[in-house]
Amino acid sequence: MSETTGCGQSCLHDLLYYETNKTLVIPSIQAGCLFRFIQLLVLLYVVGYVCVVQKAYQETDSVISSVSTKVKGFAFTNTSDMGPRVWDTADYVIPPQSDNSFFVMTNMVVTPTQTQSRCPELPSPSATCVDDCDCTEGHSNPQGSGIQTGLCENYSTTVQTCEVRSWCPLEIDAVLPKPALLAAAENYTVLIKNSITYPKFRFHGRNILPHINSSYLKRCEFNHATDPHCPIFRLKHIVSEAGEEFQDMAVMGGIIGIIIDWSCDLDSWAGKCYPKYSFSRLDNKHHVNNVAPGYNFRFAKYYRTADGEETRTLMKAYGIRFDVIVFGTAGKFGIVPTIVNLGAALSFLSLVSAVSDWFILNCMAKSDVYKKHKFTYLSDNSGTESISLGTSYGTE
Ligand SMILES: *[C@@H]1O[C@H](CO)[C@@H](O)[C@H](O)[C@H]1NC(C)=O
Repeated sequence: MSETTGCGQSCLHDLLYYETNKTLVIPSIQAGCLFRFIQLLVLLYVVGYVCVVQKAYQETDSVISSVSTKVKGFAFTNTSDMGPRVWDTADYVIPPQSDNSFFVMTNMVVTPTQTQSRCPELPSPSATCVDDCDCTEGHSNPQGSGIQTGLCENYSTTVQTCEVRSWCPLEIDAVLPKPALLAAAENYTVLIKNSITYPKFRFHGRNILPHINSSYLKRCEFNHATDPHCPIFRLKHIVSEAGEEFQDMAVMGGIIGIIIDWSCDLDSWAGKCYPKYSFSRLDNKHHVNNVAPGYNFRFAKYYRTADGEETRTLMKAYGIRFDVIVFGTAGKFGIVPTIVNLGAALSFLSLVSAVSDWFILNCMAKSDVYKKHKFTYLSDNSGTESISLGTSYGTE
């Protein structure tokens, strides 16, 4: 019983007696300066980097966006295949609409009036033959043009190739028109409409800014220096901002990124939230071996002749695909990140005394003296009260 009361008393003392740390004052300007200097470094980091650069007091949200585009412009061609012909939006934008990108055809290989029939394969090492034995009926080469009939036919007066069942005449895409057929595409313009939302902050924005009126929209053209907020872009300008020559790129095609950066500081003191545009080529044209460059695909238009036979016009379209890439993070003052980062900053400050202690006890001239005062060792046989204090060493 008495033991429990004893413990009870000491526990009570532990609980109720006030405890505080003893402070050792080192009257050294050197040590003081060191301590303040490290404090200043920490303060600079917290204020300069964490608050100003990182804006750690803000909550963040990422952008949600929708994009629609409208390309305008005309081109005129006069080829032997097609005769004089004007090209408008419905002809060269394929498909007519898609999300976050648009394709503008700049060059093409047209193969008109193809019908389902048989014709000799295009000459290649795997297609040339001497007689029918070299060809297998029903065999098809994925790189070829159709399914072999098993016959060996004259492709020209000097070359014989296996006959295939296919859409004939076969497309010959070995030589591309150069300069590109639709070179005039460089002068097309595109209107990009982009609406964005930051749902967490209930912020809505549009790249057609509130101060833009319809008469300005009719005549403006984007330019970083003079018209940075105009949503109408000349294709040639986009491509040259991406560091490319339009007419070079138009021959084989390629992919260009139109990058819209909506990163914003939504705090009321931070100013307006405007999109920033940048452009870059996304497909890598600097292939080591330059195999399979550019961007192209095929599509066909189907007809029926007067006598009911199905024919088609095959188009191999080369062009530039423009991908509109919208990104951004918005920040706004928030109490939770502020408290969290304030706590982190304060705990960082407590590190200062640990670092200065280490310096003072290890690197300074009188560090031995400081050490003796800083650490108090209890003698081995000391009772609960008698403590051998370090004060006896004093400063010599
Ligand atoms: C594009 O327009 C400019 C100026 O109007 C003109 O000089 C240029 O020849 C045009 N480009 C093509 C390929 O037609």
